[in-house]
Amino acid sequence: MALLVRLALLALLRPTGAVTLALQGGGIRALASDAGLVAGIARVSHLSHLSHNESIYKQSGDSDQTKMDTLNVMRVLQNFDTVSSVSGSSWFAAELFFSNSFVELLKGIASSPFTASVQFDQQWIQPWLLATDVQEPKFDGIQSLVRLWVKLLLGTGDEDTIFLAQFFFASGLSWNHFVDVLLKSTAGISVNRQMGSTPVSGASHTWLVDHTVLLPTSGACIRQGKLIFPRVTYGAAADGVLPAYLPAKFSIKLGSGNSSAPLSYIAQPEEPIQFNFRGLCLGCGSASSGALYVDMANGSLINSTGAFPVVQTVAASSAVFGSAIGGFVFSEIAAQLTAEVAVWIGTKGFEAADELYDTLQSHVDADLMSELGKTAFHALIDGGFSDGTGIAQAVSAGASEVVVVLNSFSTNQPEYVAQLFQGGTVVKPAVPKELFPVFQSPSASAVQTAFTEFETLKLHNSSYLKVIAFGKIQATTAENKFFGIQGGRDVTLNIINICSELSIGFFANFENYGHLVQEVALTISDPANRDVVLSQLMPLFDSSLNSFRSFQSTPPLRRQFI
Ligand SMILES: *[C@@H]1O[C@H](CO)[C@@H](O)[C@H](O)[C@H]1NC(C)=O
Ligand SMILES: *[C@@H]1O[C@H](CO)[C@@H](O)[C@H](O)[C@H]1NC(C)=O
Ligand SMILES: *[C@@H]1O[C@H](CO)[C@@H](O)[C@H](O)[C@H]1NC(C)=O
Ligand SMILES: *[C@@H]1O[C@H](CO)[C@@H](O)[C@H](O)[C@H]1NC(C)=O
Ligand SMILES: *[C@@H]1O[C@H](CO)[C@@H](O)[C@H](O)[C@H]1NC(C)=O
Repeated sequence: MALLVRLALLALLRPTGAVTLALQGGGIRALASDAGLVAGIARVSHLSHLSHNESIYKQSGDSDQTKMDTLNVMRVLQNFDTVSSVSGSSWFAAELFFSNSFVELLKGIASSPFTASVQFDQQWIQPWLLATDVQEPKFDGIQSLVRLWVKLLLGTGDEDTIFLAQFFFASGLSWNHFVDVLLKSTAGISVNRQMGSTPVSGASHTWLVDHTVLLPTSGACIRQGKLIFPRVTYGAAADGVLPAYLPAKFSIKLGSGNSSAPLSYIAQPEEPIQFNFRGLCLGCGSASSGALYVDMANGSLINSTGAFPVVQTVAASSAVFGSAIGGFVFSEIAAQLTAEVAVWIGTKGFEAADELYDTLQSHVDADLMSELGKTAFHALIDGGFSDGTGIAQAVSAGASEVVVVLNSFSTNQPEYVAQLFQGGTVVKPAVPKELFPVFQSPSASAVQTAFTEFETLKLHNSSYLKVIAFGKIQATTAENKFFGIQGGRDVTLNIINICSELSIGFFANFENYGHLVQEVALTISDPANRDVVLSQLMPLFDSSLNSFRSFQSTPPLRRQFI
């Protein structure tokens, strides 16, 4: 019976085999970089379609709303049949796919890039600040604890992560709630919005919401009292090698209603997985899920993807502090702060798991323990704990070409891409080495070198944006059983790295993100970058612009780095 279900499900799960857009995680910096890029590309695409008249392009600095009225932001995503997003970029993707007001904001930025920072501030940042109601005094007491937490958990935490942590802890909430407030206040996405519901016009992609399943051998904390007891933990077991962080993705064909996922959730494990639950309290005992197949929930996650709430799916992808429940010390800090850092799931979906979690915070008994086992209760955390670039899931889904949008701090950092290649070094502490490589060639050091040879755009008057670099890497896959990738496939990676320095400070400097959006959009549509943008960047997004190449004074350059 179990075998039949598995075979039936496998038959449904075919790779897509086309061009995928992969959007790297990185909190609000990722969202701002993605927004500036898509708006900038939409502007150039629109101006180019409008006319082959060069003088119109040359005036592209002017804000001219009337000329841009017919602009369609979604058109610049037409080339992609799949979008693979991680963490902050999953917020971006959710807003792009499910929010008319967010698409209007992008259109406004594309129409009038010189006022982008004001638009982003008024329509995105301010509504969010209002909704979170975070006051500086609320945070003062826990400031150093949060800095220590981020540093221990994520290594030398970048400003953006510390910034998010401040907000998360100062609002004293669960991660689900944090993401709910963010999506609702900035884009009007309600908590009831389902993955399979009708998207904004023009969005017809397959969306991969990349995340990580937390599978420690034992000790992942579900509940810990302030003096340790009662304590409820889970662990995972399998016959084969089971990494503590296993890559996973929710996939949905946008607009497909209550349909099941078009792609597999995890790479098919050779052996089933089992969750074991332990209660450290009187009469609690222990429980087990029994053998689990397909999606670690006997198929119920891929069956119900269309009905899952967008908020919780995206919260899982972005649960950047979620790994904290895997360690005793962090669990203690989380208990002290009463923070819920992971996103919970089981065979009955997100909401039922969340209810069970809440009930367990008030009391623990044998019935609740047994419910944990019956529903295969476990934690989902940020996609950055497996591959934060979105590339590996794109390749796993069958892409032979991937346009990758990275966001880096200050310089054209290659590390998160290089770690996917043979001989690479894993960047984030605790991410299991055995998840890599994803590519057998070129070598990680050749990838590092390729990044130094990337083309860059000219920057004018940019304060926060430091580099926009891009280039192509021809890669060949390695056999990878954790991402479910066959060896020997050729994949073209077109990489765009948006590098910015956001000296965030404390609560005052949110508008920096608006400046970043503006600087990215202006740089891409800057007439000084016209030739290189038209010949190299635009064809990645808008294939109908290929005819436009005849208009080039110089033939398009196709740089091959490797
Ligand atoms: C190009 O556009 C400019 C500005 O709109 C206009 O003045 C000019 O006549 C146009 N040239 C051609 C050849 O269409
Ligand atoms: C899924 O089915 C339920 C019940 O029939 C319905 O209320 C809901 O709108 C459907 N969801 C989608 C995304 O079509
Ligand atoms: C999943 O299916 C297996 C095999 O049919 C069964 O033994 C196990 O109890 C199921 N687990 C859950 C949580 O439903
Ligand atoms: C998945 O959906 C199919 C078809 O709707 C149904 O027959 C099957 O029982 C479902 N499986 C699970 C695990 O929900
Ligand atoms: C440069 O940027 C600053 C701040 O964004 C702005 O006030 C100024 O007008 C800009 N200067 C030019 C020449 O665009």
